[in-house]
Amino acid sequence: MRLLPSFVALALGLLVSADPLLSPYRVHERRGHIPVGWSYDRKHDSTAAIPLRFALKQNNIDAIGDYLMAVSQPESEGYGKHWSAGEVFRKFSPSTESIGAVLAWLEENGFDSSRAKLTRNRGWIEVQATVEEAERLLQTEYHVYGHETGQEHVACDSYHLPEHVQSHVDFVTPTVHFDAKISKRSGSGSPDGTARSVGQPGHGTSPKTTGEIQTLLNQLESCDKQITPICLRALYGLVYEPLAASKNSYGIVEYTPQAYLQSDLDMFHSNFSQGLVGVAPEMVSIDGGYAQTQYTGFEYNGESDLDLEYAMNLVTAAQPITLYQAGDMVEGASFNNFLDAIDGTYCTFEGGDDPTQDAIYPDPYGGGYEGPEDCGTAKPTNVISTSYSYNEADLTPFYTARQCAEYAKLGLMGVTVLYSSGDYGVAGNGGYCLTPNGTYSLNGTIFNPSFPGTCPYITSVGATQVNPGSTVYDPEGACEQVIYSGGGFSNYFAMPDYQKTAVEYYLTNYYPQYPPNIWNASGTSRGFPDIAANGANYVVAIDGTFNLVYGTSCSSPVSGAILTMVNDARLAVGKSPIGFINPTIYSSSFAGVFNDITMGGNQGCGTAGYTAVPGWDPVTGLGTPNFPKLIAKWLLLP
Ligand SMILES: *[C@@H]1O[C@H](CO)[C@@H](O)[C@H](O)[C@H]1NC(C)=O
Ligand SMILES: *[C@@H]1O[C@H](CO)[C@@H](O)[C@H](O)[C@H]1NC(C)=O
Ligand SMILES: *[C@@H]1O[C@H](CO)[C@@H](O)[C@H](O)[C@H]1NC(C)=O
Ligand SMILES: *[C@@H]1O[C@H](CO)[C@@H](O)[C@H](O)[C@H]1NC(C)=O
Repeated sequence: MRLLPSFVALALGLLVSADPLLSPYRVHERRGHIPVGWSYDRKHDSTAAIPLRFALKQNNIDAIGDYLMAVSQPESEGYGKHWSAGEVFRKFSPSTESIGAVLAWLEENGFDSSRAKLTRNRGWIEVQATVEEAERLLQTEYHVYGHETGQEHVACDSYHLPEHVQSHVDFVTPTVHFDAKISKRSGSGSPDGTARSVGQPGHGTSPKTTGEIQTLLNQLESCDKQITPICLRALYGLVYEPLAASKNSYGIVEYTPQAYLQSDLDMFHSNFSQGLVGVAPEMVSIDGGYAQTQYTGFEYNGESDLDLEYAMNLVTAAQPITLYQAGDMVEGASFNNFLDAIDGTYCTFEGGDDPTQDAIYPDPYGGGYEGPEDCGTAKPTNVISTSYSYNEADLTPFYTARQCAEYAKLGLMGVTVLYSSGDYGVAGNGGYCLTPNGTYSLNGTIFNPSFPGTCPYITSVGATQVNPGSTVYDPEGACEQVIYSGGGFSNYFAMPDYQKTAVEYYLTNYYPQYPPNIWNASGTSRGFPDIAANGANYVVAIDGTFNLVYGTSCSSPVSGAILTMVNDARLAVGKSPIGFINPTIYSSSFAGVFNDITMGGNQGCGTAGYTAVPGWDPVTGLGTPNFPKLIAKWLLLP
């Protein structure tokens, strides 16, 4: 992530901004409140160092949704014609004008070119500043905030940019954002102070357990009491042996200190999939990530063990799994760290070039080498499942928009991105709801949607259950045991076209009878989740015992495994992976392909939440997957 000195000089030589000194400062971002668990501690020391990062506005980014639809809509000419990483890079990397404008402004403010670094993907400019310099540059004041766990975080309440710079910058960090990486060392990362939370991001989003199981049932008649792989295979019709495993992989993302134990995987597999005993996931370490064994217990191993045990079983021993283990023990990692690594537009200069010496290809100025320099430090798998999430309100609109666009890029490259929708129904992580002044409270009454669930370029997965007393041959209901399926409407993102028909049908026929000040009743905002899968009573080997586990944390990896097998069938006949699935699954040609869920709801914030009804609903989305129907439909597409 180093800027070549010659490149800085070149960029500065191409400056175009006129009269920058006369441009007035404007508020760029402002935060309404301090997130749960944090409190103001002190003004930051003016001589302390602060690593400023400027997220540069990307070229053509406003049209990214259109580009994505062109390769993802089943009726589109370009369906399945995914882009290479190089094509994504060329289309969206920030313009030379944007880079020049920010560098020039920095230089005018005393940050000469030797201090400014452009990251490899041209997405960010970094400078090391003192607090005093940063405060002058951004017309702000930095404070130190303390978390109840003892962790500290540096932030400001708002910051300013000159008008002529604003249009070139999405946002600056560290500033108003609280995407802090709570390190496990300093204790629990949960906003409610319990020991539940695992890893980060998304404190309080771990699965829940009701504890150890005495007797393992593992029978189709008992799936209302214990979910094991045979239950899921029966529920979703997943009977499939991969044919194209070498062309495929299934990615699971974990954030250290959350880690799997090989002994737990082996214990699970010895009971449910003997061929996998001794098999480890293929680990891709991101930012120093590794499967730590220093800390164990449900809160450290629960999520990873759950995800990997079920993912590996369902895709069978024939299909290796990729584990993206993000963050080390000290720093942890955020979604953005993961995206930095997975984004194929982040060049590694494979093929023998020396990253410290070589120029940037394709030549950003034109006239140079325009060939495909397609690279990334971590290769994205065809399907990536993540069971961690933030509250949308934790983050600013600029920040979420930028991250959401990164997911769209993965979709352009043919990657299916799944996120669990949250476990607190219409409430946010830890059961917190919003209050009229924008703060969080357990007594709040305003619904608190999750992110990235509300990003229109990911597939959000809610949770269902085999209703008590029912079997796998009966319809499932929304999960109402221990956890409630996250769902609702975004306050940041507009309703994407692909879901208009489905969501408008819901709003027309089942309009939620809540005052419009507690949910986004505009009728124009993104509804989530998109799909659902079972999330109750999972048998998971954790720390040497079988435990019952609940959560959309179960639903996402199971859905991802099913979609990975759909990809296998397409790859086996020479077709492209399914990529971003939402435009397809909401299309009329896929009507009836998901098992519609019409029972249960997702209570929260002192309400019954939304109700699962015929058609799409903000509890279980379109419903649960029906593998035989999915595979048949997807094999018909080009
Ligand atoms: C799991 O499998 C092991 C080895 O086959 C067996 O001894 C054990 O009883 C099984 N566990 C349960 C809870 O049935
Ligand atoms: C916001 O409102 C809640 C109750 O609705 C109140 O408890 C809290 O003190 C308020 N906070 C601020 C910063 O105004
Ligand atoms: C929530 O309400 C309960 C009683 O209704 C009250 O005891 C408690 O202090 C309130 N908590 C907060 C955080 O406002
Ligand atoms: C509702 O969502 C839309 C985005 O579609 C947003 O513009 C609007 O501000 C939201 N309303 C509230 C009250 O947050």
